[in-house]
Amino acid sequence: MLYTIGDLHLSFQTDKPMDVFGREWEGHTEKLRENFRSLTPDDVTVIAGDLTWGISLADCLEDFRFIHELPGKKIILKGNHDFWWSTATKAMKFFKENGLDSIEILNNNCFFYGDTAICGTRGWFCPSENPSDQDKKIMAREVLRLETSLSLAGNAERKIVFLHYPPFYGKYYSREMVDLIHRYGVSECYYGHIHGSGRLLAFEGEAGGVRYRLVSADHVGFKPVRVL
Ligand SMILES: [Fe+2]
Ligand SMILES: [Fe+2]
Repeated sequence: MLYTIGDLHLSFQTDKPMDVFGREWEGHTEKLRENFRSLTPDDVTVIAGDLTWGISLADCLEDFRFIHELPGKKIILKGNHDFWWSTATKAMKFFKENGLDSIEILNNNCFFYGDTAICGTRGWFCPSENPSDQDKKIMAREVLRLETSLSLAGNAERKIVFLHYPPFYGKYYSREMVDLIHRYGVSECYYGHIHGSGRLLAFEGEAGGVRYRLVSADHVGFKPVRVL
């Protein structure tokens, strides 16, 4: 089976207790461990960014060990809190050196689960009014990354996009991201990043023939969501 969940926000080596973000975050790592228990080594879970609070890869070793020990293969993408991320190559080298071989990175690439292509990138919130040059630059880079990932999907029967930032949220709408999702015939889009009361503005459901769903850990009860 293919699963997804976002925003694990682990902090085994950093002093960042998540219960300050709300009662539902109390004991969230135990909840995650418990809720992953029904998965098997053949399952695949896409983790949609904000994995850990650690600043460097070394700060995150215990967090990545936790992720590695969850059953099945994990495909991770970057969130805005993943400061440990410098390059995908460095992270993959670190995973290899530490025997974390169940973790793969979705970044300028694409994975396949049977006939289904797993595509995605972090994304960005680029304000529609007066965006800074920096915002425009970051957004353009993310759009390019998503396009690269989607183009590698070829003629896959089904294409699913995983993002950290939603392509639209409240009054925010990224025309470029949505256009790509439509142009490449994506059927579903899963995203994270949105927590707490902010979830009230998150869109979930069908829009333009694409199904959207928020999968941040607190939103889905710290339980991986079955995609396929
Ligand atoms: Fe988050
Ligand atoms: Fe985030």
